Parts: sequence; C-alpha cells; structure tokens
Amino acid sequence: MAYNLLKGKRGIIFGALDEKSIAWKVAQVAHAEGATFVLSNAPLAMRMGEINKLAEATGSQIVPADATSVEDLTNLFTQAQEILGGKIDFVLHSIGMSPNIRKNKPYGDLNYDWFMKSIDVSALSFHKVMHVAEKLDAMNEYGSILALSYIAAQRVFPDYTDMAQAKAMLESIARSYGHRFGKLKKVRVNTISQSPTKTTAGTGVGGFDAFFDYADKMSPLGNASAEDCANYCVTLFSDFTRQVTMQNLMHDGGFSSMGISEDVVEVLEANAPKN
Ligand SMILES: NC(=O)c1ccc[n+]([C@@H]2O[C@H](COP(=O)([O-])OP(=O)(O)OC[C@H]3O[C@@H](n4cnc5c(N)ncnc54)[C@H](O)[C@@H]3O)[C@@H](O)[C@H]2O)c1
Repeated sequence: MAYNLLKGKRGIIFGALDEKSIAWKVAQVAHAEGATFVLSNAPLAMRMGEINKLAEATGSQIVPADATSVEDLTNLFTQAQEILGGKIDFVLHSIGMSPNIRKNKPYGDLNYDWFMKSIDVSALSFHKVMHVAEKLDAMNEYGSILALSYIAAQRVFPDYTDMAQAKAMLESIARSYGHRFGKLKKVRVNTISQSPTKTTAGTGVGGFDAFFDYADKMSPLGNASAEDCANYCVTLFSDFTRQVTMQNLMHDGGFSSMGISEDVVEVLEANAPKN
C-alpha cells in the first residue's frame, strides 16, 4: 500500500546492482511513493545490465558514476538536476566493497592498498557525494541524505575485517557532514545500520550464513529484510522525519540491544557435550 510519502520529491539512488540489492528495493518503494529519481552505479556494475530493468520499471534514467571520483559525481549531480528539473530532495548511498574481503584476506594479513580502496569506496565516497552536492548547491532545504551501515562499526565481527573500519568512518562522516549540511541548508544526514541481508555484498563476507542465522535467532523480531530496510529509508526521505539528523539508526529487529536469546541458548544446549 502506498501513501504518497515522496510525492514531488527528486532523488539520486546509488548502488542498485541486481534485484537483491537494498538500493533496488528502495527504488521500488520510492517510485511507489511518488518520487522521481536518477539511478547511479559504477560503470563496471552497469555492464551487467540488470539496472536497465529497474530503470524501465520506475521510469528512471541512469547516470553512471564511480563514487570515488569527484569528477563523475559532479557530472552525476549536474545531470540529475537537469533530468529531474530541479534540486535534489534525497540521496541514497548504498555502496560498499572490500577487495580484502573479496580475496578472503584475514585481519592479520590485510593488503594495505586494498584497505585504502575499501575506505575510499565504502566511506570516503560518502564525503565526496556530500562535498559535490554542497559545491553545486544541489540539495533542497530539508533534503535527506542516507548511507547504509552495519553493526560491525561498533562490535567485532571477525570476518568483516577492514569493512568494520570503513563503516565506523562512514558513520562518523554522517555526523560531521550532518552538522555542516544542517547549518548550511537544513539538510539531514543519517546512516541506517541494517541486519545481515542476502545480497551480493552481504553474502561475500566469510561465514555469512552463520551470522545471518545467529542474528536472526538473537533478534526478537528476526532479521530485517531488504524490503523492510527500503520502507525505513523512505520514511527518512519523507517530511515526517525532518528533525532526524546525525544519527546511526539501528534497523535490526532488536539485535543490537540483546545480550543472549532463548533461541541461541537452545541451540547451544542442544550442541553441548553430555556429561
Ligand atoms: N547485505 C548486508 O548484509 C548489509 C548489511 C548492512 C549494511 N549493508 C550495506 O548496504 C549497502 C548496499 O549493499 P547491498 O547489501 O545491497 O549489496 P550490493 O552488492 O547489491 O550493493 C553494493 C553496491 O555498491 C556498488 N559499488 C561498489 N563500488 C562502487 C563504486 N566505486 N562506485 C559506485 N558504486 C559502487 C556496487 O556496484 C553495488 O551496486 C552497502 O553499503 C552495504 O555495506 C549491507
């Protein structure tokens, strides 16, 4: 059921790779809620061509941009305003990538050039997006800028390796730029810390299935799905959350407030050695 929450709003959505992507679901819900937007992804990801289906279904245009390139981002924000016919009301940064995770490097044996790449793609790019939006004066007042984070920014999940540092920086950038953009233009900036979700980026992390099940058993509401995440993102783009800024918002079915759960105890007891 749609509520016209984003009627008349213009946005840029980064990171829809295929229909499992969180950004893909956000685009579908934003479209149903009346928004118009431009879709963007890295030129390399475009080659897979999946995004064309989403563009067709949502009546959107696609503008490729490597989110680590200020030049690409400048072109994207300039073109998006032309295509959409005005300044931007919302931006979704749904971007993450770690070459160290892709190559299964353990935390004690990280490749530092790749570490820098993880930080650039997954965290600094968020700063670059806002830097470009500010320089071009591309955001409307009370616009909303969102990035997606994970609880490994605060707690240790060993297989998340250098992405933990990238997410910690991402959340910090949201606070610092949130202060700046709030003062400048009343633009709000937040991160959503999402449950493990079965997407290309998510399932690339070692041991994903185990911590997906663990988080599900720990959370009183179970893991939040990509669809739930999309609904939450849309409320944060809407006018009903105009005073929410500089926050890392937990969207995890209650996981982050738990110590242990009955379901986890049950599994441990079932597997305990009998003596
Ligand atoms: N899946 C999970 O378990 C989970 C949990 C919490 C947070 N997140 C975060 O959600 C976001 C979206 O990931 P997802 O799970 O939908 O996976 P996904 O693989 O579908 O999306 C990641 C996107 O990042 C894009 N990308 C990578 N390098 C880029 C670059 N240089 N420029 C522009 N785009 C680039 C990819 O092309 C892809 O579209 C990421 O920030 C991820 O860390 C995911």
